[in-house]
Amino acid sequence: MTISSNSSNNHGISQAQLDAHWMPFTGNREFKKDPRIIVSAQGNYYTDARGRKIFDGLSGLWTCGAGHGRTEITEAIAKQAATLDYSPAFQFGHPKSFELAHRITQIMPEDLNRVFFTGSGSEAVETALKIARGYWRKQGQASKTRFIGRSKGYHGVNYGGISVGGLSPNRAIFGQGIEACHLPHTMISGNNFIQGMPSEGAYLAEELEQLVTLHDASTIAAVIVEPLAGSAGVIPPPVGYLKRLREICTKHNILLIFDEVITAFGRMGSNTGAAEFGVTPDLMTVAKQLTNGVIPMGAVIAKQEIYDTYMDTAGPEYMLELPHGYTYSAHPVACAAALASLDILAKESLPERVKTIAPYFQAALHDLKGVVHINDIRNYGLAGALSIDHAVGEPAKRPYQIAMKMWQKGFYVRYGGDTIQLGLPFTSTLPEIDSLMNALGETIAEVN
Ligand SMILES: Cc1ncc(COP(=O)(O)O)c(C=O)c1O
Repeated sequence: MTISSNSSNNHGISQAQLDAHWMPFTGNREFKKDPRIIVSAQGNYYTDARGRKIFDGLSGLWTCGAGHGRTEITEAIAKQAATLDYSPAFQFGHPKSFELAHRITQIMPEDLNRVFFTGSGSEAVETALKIARGYWRKQGQASKTRFIGRSKGYHGVNYGGISVGGLSPNRAIFGQGIEACHLPHTMISGNNFIQGMPSEGAYLAEELEQLVTLHDASTIAAVIVEPLAGSAGVIPPPVGYLKRLREICTKHNILLIFDEVITAFGRMGSNTGAAEFGVTPDLMTVAKQLTNGVIPMGAVIAKQEIYDTYMDTAGPEYMLELPHGYTYSAHPVACAAALASLDILAKESLPERVKTIAPYFQAALHDLKGVVHINDIRNYGLAGALSIDHAVGEPAKRPYQIAMKMWQKGFYVRYGGDTIQLGLPFTSTLPEIDSLMNALGETIAEVN
């Protein structure tokens, strides 16, 4: 951050500097009137430009589960940048990418053992969709191009991702996407205030059979879902739902993609949502926690059969099997950050720690039932959300007001649509969980 010397405000950023940055997924006009500027982070806390300590109730953006300022990661980054700052991602390799790919395969469900690196979650999603279509073409089934996503799904912001995604505000102004249709979401009435996975709702997977009947399996490349929908406000899968999707995909020769950008690497209490929910997809997308959020990085992990299909080609060996990749695919510094981050997860048994404290988090979160405006509470692992009654004509207003008041009180929580979302650091203590929940309950009651 550049501090403007003549600034008279209390965050040190001039109006011209504020104006110059078009901020992502932000109400720019509102933000720039009273900016919330974070200047440093350590452990589970941020420090803002006024010197206030703020509890990180969303682990950044579901990214920093191991806490901030981890010297193992920053030192690995510094060392790597000094040794090999960049090397061409195409046609040449560096040792860390192979080490990291192998490490990732060791913590994935057994069948997922080929790793393609990207720079973000959105890029991982686009990559997975392209791999799926290309796979069928290479299998001689070029008509399999359609994707099936799910209402309330979030798969990043690129054209493939918003097409299969099911959050209408992210699609509304951008015009034609790619060929996709959607399963219904699983937030059914009757499941309000259920703790963890709802027992009702697996029948919604049968809708996939309806879509297959409508479009025919010969036109469908893949189904993509988040095992637990995060950005729409933490929607855990009903018991048996993912298993049924898997069965239907297998029956009709449709690839199943799990978008685990939020759920992979600990948040569910296991290494992946796939492991936690006992269902293995054909392709998985990951990002965020892979580097503890310190350096952008994503990946697609594919079943070997998919990789082998690409390799099994008649062309000369110097020809590309998959004409796809990013300048920053497997960036050496990102690989170093990811290796250090995965080391921390393993050494400190953080997925297991999530599993251990999740019941406490669940109980504390559900204690908020009965507080005015809260019409649903959902959770799994260290992810939780509250649905908030709509203020007349303004569904998103109360969550915004709640999050801003929480910020004033020293707690960062995310607001999105009509929800407040929590993704606590894996290193959270029980007293930290208590103070967050107390502040939330108090704050929600204060909002009109
Ligand atoms: C499930 C899921 N997929 C994809 C993305 C997009 O990731 P990124 O913002 O790194 O592009 C996100 C981001 O929150 C996500 O939650």
